[in-house]
Amino acid sequence: QLEPLPALTPEFLCVLNDVCVKCYTDFAPDELEVSVREHILQDLEGFVRRQFSGARLRLFGSSKNGFGFRQSDLDICMVLDGQDTMDDIDCITIIESLARLLKKHPDLKNILPITTAKVPIVKFYHVRTGLEGDISLYNTLALHNTHLLATYGAFDNRVKILCYVMKVFAKVCDIGDASRGSLSSYAYTLMVLFFLQQRNPPVIPVLQEIYDAQKKPEVLVDGWNVYFYDDLKTLPSRWSEYGGNTESVGELWLGLLRFYTEDFDFREHVICIRQRARLTTFNKQWTSKYIVIEDPFDLNHNLGAGLSRKMTNFIMKAFINGRTVFGTPIKVLSPIYPNQVE
Ligand code: GTP
Ligand code: MG
Repeated sequence: QLEPLPALTPEFLCVLNDVCVKCYTDFAPDELEVSVREHILQDLEGFVRRQFSGARLRLFGSSKNGFGFRQSDLDICMVLDGQDTMDDIDCITIIESLARLLKKHPDLKNILPITTAKVPIVKFYHVRTGLEGDISLYNTLALHNTHLLATYGAFDNRVKILCYVMKVFAKVCDIGDASRGSLSSYAYTLMVLFFLQQRNPPVIPVLQEIYDAQKKPEVLVDGWNVYFYDDLKTLPSRWSEYGGNTESVGELWLGLLRFYTEDFDFREHVICIRQRARLTTFNKQWTSKYIVIEDPFDLNHNLGAGLSRKMTNFIMKAFINGRTVFGTPIKVLSPIYPNQVE
């Protein structure tokens, strides 16, 4: 029983658009903040190499996917030169000794190894910048999905802005903390990308379905195909629907809230950005959950698997309220100039 929404005036759409753009301009880090992150990374790499001589550190997640906030955490992946993979036992041992080493770093505090998680990490707090971070080992798929998200974000500015709006929305509604049982930022970003692919006409293509050869190329990482078309220069000529969608960010944001509250059948379908054809929850045998989000590379990974029924309802309510709030015009006050006041 959704409230009917009134017709939107061009003035209201203009306000809506400004609000969306502001989420991006107010929260995106500037060049200095980006370089601070690189600097911390360099410094940490030098430090870690004292004990692990072949260690290389790389940033991933929102420090690199283009949807980072000023205070977003530093997601770091460590690999050792000349070694392609690492088994779980070695990962845990190295995480533990990495934690002991990082405790000696003068700029770091609150060192905490977490070895029971699916991906073992060591967490830290960087005192001078107030940034939190974690280091994982051989988190190679995450490096690839970071590059995939970055490519979508760089393809059209509306993608970037909408991903920021979604993250702000999730923070404000308190539905964006996976460590407390809701969905991760990464999951919400996948929801935005899926919506933009399913929009008619679509705003973005399905990069994993574009290729030159007869057959989809296979680039295997941890047993999964991480191929996607990443040449932004030639992409427009490779995508027949390029430029078809000219909606504003404001229209798309309201469109997204309406899509997930009015159109998308969560029971039936999977949020899946690797193919244009709808994938069903039945196909995947993922029928016990209401919000089902397939990782674009690790096809066994459902980002919504950890949601309780209560949390699912809480998230859906946030979307329903968002639809009403963003879909109901407010009176736009015209500025009052002192000499016009009677
Ligand atoms: P922020 O909230 O700005 O930190 O966004 P983020 O994209 O960096 O999210 P987060 O720090 O939670 O995750 C870091 C990265 O881990 C993501 O961008 C993905 O590349 C990768 N990742 C892969 N699978 C998962 C998953 O199941 N959950 C999360 N949270 N991250 C995943
Ligand atoms: Mg992060």
